[in-house]
Amino acid sequence: MAVIGARGQLGSDLVRVLSERYEVVGFTHEELEVADMASVERALGGRDWAAIVNTAAFHRVEACEADPERAFRVNALGALNVARVARAAGAKCVYISTDYVFDGAKGGPYLESDPPRPINVYGASKLAGEQLCFMTLDDALVLRISSVFGRAGASGKGGNFVETILQKARAGGPLRVVADQFMSPSYTLDVARLLMGLLEKDVRGVVHGANQGVCSWHELAQEAVRLCGLGVGVEPIPSSAFPSPVKRPPYSALASERLAALGLKTRPWREALGDYLREKGHLAG
Ligand SMILES: NC(=O)c1ccc[n+]([C@@H]2O[C@H](COP(=O)([O-])OP(=O)(O)OC[C@H]3O[C@@H](n4cnc5c(N)ncnc54)[C@H](OP(=O)(O)O)[C@@H]3O)[C@@H](O)[C@H]2O)c1
Repeated sequence: MAVIGARGQLGSDLVRVLSERYEVVGFTHEELEVADMASVERALGGRDWAAIVNTAAFHRVEACEADPERAFRVNALGALNVARVARAAGAKCVYISTDYVFDGAKGGPYLESDPPRPINVYGASKLAGEQLCFMTLDDALVLRISSVFGRAGASGKGGNFVETILQKARAGGPLRVVADQFMSPSYTLDVARLLMGLLEKDVRGVVHGANQGVCSWHELAQEAVRLCGLGVGVEPIPSSAFPSPVKRPPYSALASERLAALGLKTRPWREALGDYLREKGHLAG
């Protein structure tokens, strides 16, 4: 199996987890540029991959808005390049996508059958990537996740939200966190295990793979601080306190209507957060 984006939060955990059962080759950005077909072919062509998992993305939402060309080159054209090479190799193609394909107007967790309607360039470029995968391969798998935290930290974002909160809390605060945007956090180790199950069952189509439950960024921050026993208050603030040129869905929680029928599930986000904090050495035991 091939994992693209192997040094990223999800990519590094995928290499770790999938290697328990399969022969896995991870490709870093230096080794493979998804936006460049020649680079994708050089790295992946001419080999019989069982599956190619594409975790690479340009996912800094503000930067995508400012540079839509790059967003579509990496997130959409990159997805097409990888899907074409997967088709030529007879490989299963897996594209990792996002809750930001939704507009947030539903007011409840989004299911796989809900129609996507992105409201920013990042979301639109990822939805285009999903569609280009399905256009190329009927049996492609798109796994949507959201608000990701993992051992490696997001390379494009310098760590992740949980680490940023804990650093600030250890520095004594103050912590002011948005309380009116709701989502479902995703622990990359859990996502990697889920993907292993999906690959074993040769699942196709769209699957939502976030941890179970819904929280605001404020609740996520508060829980991380509480679990680490840091006596720092977290003040809830409205997102209007951080004016941004980018529209974000106010409610982009994900739930799955497919996993139960497949005999698969993810666990509640609080449990996953506790394990993540233990894995990172923030908690004893
Ligand atoms: N992070 C989130 O909160 C979040 C939420 C929802 C969905 N997702 C999706 O989940 C996936 C994984 O996210 P993540 O947090 O694991 O990201 P990450 O930590 O930034 O990992 C992405 C990896 O892909 C590599 N990469 C970036 N651009 C590339 C390109 N053009 N060609 C080849 N490799 C490239 C990066 O390398 P360099 O750093 O060296 O460029 C990095 O190692 C992405 O598809 C993202 O859209 C993420």
